[in-house]
Amino acid sequence: MRVLLMGPPGAGKGTQAEVLVQDLAVPHISTGDMFRAAIQNGTPLGLQAKLFMDQGQLVPDDVTCGIVRERLVAPDCRDGFLLDGFPRTVPQAEVLETILQELQMALDVVIDIQVSREALVQRLTGRRICRQCGAAFHVVFNPPEQPGKCDKCGGELYQRTDDSPETAENRLDVYTKQTQPLVEFYQTKGLYQVINGEQTRQAVLADICRALGRGA
Ligand code: AP5
Ligand code: MG
Repeated sequence: MRVLLMGPPGAGKGTQAEVLVQDLAVPHISTGDMFRAAIQNGTPLGLQAKLFMDQGQLVPDDVTCGIVRERLVAPDCRDGFLLDGFPRTVPQAEVLETILQELQMALDVVIDIQVSREALVQRLTGRRICRQCGAAFHVVFNPPEQPGKCDKCGGELYQRTDDSPETAENRLDVYTKQTQPLVEFYQTKGLYQVINGEQTRQAVLADICRALGRGA
């Protein structure tokens, strides 16, 4: 199955992807996670991406498409993948089409998780991530058993630098301007499905599974 999970910052893409990739047995391809790993490793890609991410802006299309192309040609993507946060612009979606054509593949479904702006700001500013395993928590909606400590691996929890109130607002504006046009792009292709993201995580997952034609 080849799935694209879209939705604004904080919609729950990463949260849902974590469970879905287990169920679908496909790799999770998150451009945001790839950039954060590059930043942590201090690579030239990381240095470049950080300049944009810290401002809540998108990393340039050519850079982003380059890393996705490299990832999609890997053998573990042959039988499917879940894209999280890519494409985010119409030019990126066009490049993705070309890459998939070259690989003789096509997307099966595009899932758009929708959440109101007010809830998104709350989710982003209260999010905490495990430094060790990447699990996401929320100080109110999904608090860890012990503050600052991951329930899964005991790792230290931190706040993403782009989750400050000001940068979070910027990211939401960028999404409306640059990513929202993808809705029409995928509607035209008959792949687009909307999911109400303002429900419990379990209810969102059940709706996504239904949209994928699978039992929850
Ligand atoms: P990226 O890492 O992709 O961030 P994003 O799209 O802004 O989305 P988030 O990861 O913030 O949110 P999410 O939807 O995954 O929500 P989550 O599950 O964590 O991108 C970061 C940056 O990298 C971009 O700004 C850009 O600079 C760059 N970049 C990445 N891709 C790019 C591209 N294609 N082109 C150019 N630049 C690119 O959940 C959020 C919080 O809500 C958590 O605390 C969670 O516990 C909580 N939560 C989740 N579900 C629920 C629920 N149902 N109810 C209550 N709380 C919930
Ligand atoms: Mg995410």
